[in-house]
Amino acid sequence: MDQYRVFGNPIKQSRSPFIHQSFAQATKQVLNYEICHVELDGFTEAVNDLIAVGGKGANVTAPFKDQALEIADVLSERARLAGAVNTLSFKGGVIYGDNTDGEGLVQDLLRNQVKLANSRILLLGAGGAAKGVILPLLAQNPINIVIANRTVSKAEALIDKFNDNRLKACGFDLAEDEKFDVIINATSASLTGALPPISPLLVHKSVVCYDMVYGKSLTPFLSWAQKNGASKVVDGLGMLVGQAAVSFSIWRKVQPEVESVLLDLRAAFLKE
Ligand code: ATR
Repeated sequence: MDQYRVFGNPIKQSRSPFIHQSFAQATKQVLNYEICHVELDGFTEAVNDLIAVGGKGANVTAPFKDQALEIADVLSERARLAGAVNTLSFKGGVIYGDNTDGEGLVQDLLRNQVKLANSRILLLGAGGAAKGVILPLLAQNPINIVIANRTVSKAEALIDKFNDNRLKACGFDLAEDEKFDVIINATSASLTGALPPISPLLVHKSVVCYDMVYGKSLTPFLSWAQKNGASKVVDGLGMLVGQAAVSFSIWRKVQPEVESVLLDLRAAFLKE
């Protein structure tokens, strides 16, 4: 049976086996997908072990996405620009590295009827999570993407890498009359119960607010956005399933359906 793993540390809480086994069942693919706890100095060995048993691919999560970039022989453009790999494929002795996080976000936004073409996007944060989604967002032809970060120099350094005049960098002190259609929180602030300090006046009834973080209840950013009148708030659980769907289609050449797996995952998650 074709073998896949997800490498991480910690990894126990990973939803990836549930998601991929659900995709496999729905698309009638025969495969095995397991979590693999990797010691901090054991990433190369873990990859080689999987290749040795005929493994076809792996997902990679924190803290190994940089090492996965290094180990890949061939990188996709989006992985190179993201500076991180979350999907490895093993074929004919070659290791291919890709990054499906940004496409997972884009697919989830589109699934939620969020218009990205000709839209003005505010991306909060300039760390790994933000970097991974810029190229796929640009591919949707927005008018612009403003990247706001607490440390402005990090946002500036980030846009320098992309060399695209639709990108702008700034701090959180954005002009209150700036108009955005979509605000995406790619900071890790929600993980500590904090909020990126942007003006509530940026939120209005036709703005969609998205948080890459998810939880049993609305994240601090999404509940703030809802309170301030956002038309729609969406958390990152759909991005998680979406990035898995893109990985699955790279490996298996079939497109799994996201919606039902997302509903099952949300239900299981709320029961825990
Ligand atoms: P990762 O690469 O895992 O995303 P990171 O590089 O530390 O992690 O990036 C985290 C992002 O969340 C950064 O944009 C960080 O802002 P700084 O670059 O100024 O550090 C942002 N962030 C974290 N906590 C925050 C908070 N409480 N308020 C606003 N931004 C925050």
